[in-house]
Amino acid sequence: MLYFITFFDFSVMSGDADTNSFVIWTRISAYRPVSVLYEVAEDSLFNKIVKSGEVKTDSSRDWTVKVLISGLSSGKTYYYRFKYNNVYSPIGKTITLPRSTNKFKIAILSCQHFSENYFWSYKYLLEDSVDIIVFLGDFIYEYSVYRNPRRPDPTPYANDLSTYRAKYRLYYTDPYLKEALRNIPIYVIWDDHEVVNDYSGKTMKYYNPRRLIDAYRAFFEYVPIRDNDSFRIYRSFNIGNLVEVFLIDGRQYRDEMVCRPTFNPRDNCYKMAFSEGRTMLGKEQKEWLISGVLNSKSKWKFVANNVMIMDMFKDNKPLNVDQWDGYYAEKKEFLCKIKNVKNVIFGTGDTHVFYFGEVLCDKKRVAYEVITAGVSSPSGLKALSDTILRQNPHIKFMNAEYRGYVRLDFYNDSLNVYFFGTDEVGNRVLLRKEKILSD
Ligand SMILES: [Fe+2]
Repeated sequence: MLYFITFFDFSVMSGDADTNSFVIWTRISAYRPVSVLYEVAEDSLFNKIVKSGEVKTDSSRDWTVKVLISGLSSGKTYYYRFKYNNVYSPIGKTITLPRSTNKFKIAILSCQHFSENYFWSYKYLLEDSVDIIVFLGDFIYEYSVYRNPRRPDPTPYANDLSTYRAKYRLYYTDPYLKEALRNIPIYVIWDDHEVVNDYSGKTMKYYNPRRLIDAYRAFFEYVPIRDNDSFRIYRSFNIGNLVEVFLIDGRQYRDEMVCRPTFNPRDNCYKMAFSEGRTMLGKEQKEWLISGVLNSKSKWKFVANNVMIMDMFKDNKPLNVDQWDGYYAEKKEFLCKIKNVKNVIFGTGDTHVFYFGEVLCDKKRVAYEVITAGVSSPSGLKALSDTILRQNPHIKFMNAEYRGYVRLDFYNDSLNVYFFGTDEVGNRVLLRKEKILSD
């Protein structure tokens, strides 16, 4: 009998590419400490290998393998693969960022709930030939849908290291995700469900530090993000002088929610949302972000943002205090400080709804916000759409019907934004196109 042995059940992926380096990732299906070889080449036949080496992995990192490959040329396509026990992994393809360019395509995705549906959005990213994927949070969900799941999630509720790891392993079985991430580098920020719904890192640290650390550790093991000692995920990348991407962390350093439930807050509990001194970003990140945006030399300043920053009010109160509206004073301070910076775009996830609109400081537009629906997480906001649009005139477009993703094509003189919906069985429909001219 002939057996096909694969040690690479989770394929390969890459991420956090800059002009001369990127992270490559895989996981070995093994049960003892192992050594893994890696090779990076300029061609898919691996005739021109430019980097190679050996790394070890074992149970301490759940047999995940992550290598930062550096010293590469800018603006190039590279191929990479791993080898263990004489078996090669699938071949991955990735890029280094260009030092100069006048066109760049970014897909933004968020909220992929495994048991809610297949991850159809990824299916179209290769067809769209996007340069990079920016994932805005809810890369996994700690819980699964038990009633009529679209596909079963056999893993338990995640609340410690082994159960968080199991979620990533499950999510990485999605065929569309696998194929896209084998070919396109991804830049991921977390939102709440990588830990638990609507959490604040500051308060988690106080009442359940182990759970927080376990969740963050599993994220760093499984996501092709650059490692560091402090679970820092806010970072920035330059795509020539065309776009600077600022990826932010709206969870780890935020103060506790002003009230719960955070959606449609009862009574007057939302009033604290306007009080001074409350933070979402934390002091260090806030200073980093403001000075980064103020001093950026790029045409477009693209902020990869967890939760909606446009005001969203209903009957004169914030509709969702888990969003930036729950940290209103800090939001105002941030937006008013960057009001003279041109061409700032926020790309946001979290809400499972498509939106497009204007971000304001003192009623004047300082930026546009593009919000993507979930890859698979559904929305319950359709019934409120008319009310939201009527009461928030700065919100120009809203679609709570479709899941999907958004593609942003950046040029020197304009930015084209395509809102793509995917239906229950994965057909794609263009819901809206926006053309933003650069100032
Ligand atoms: Fe979500």
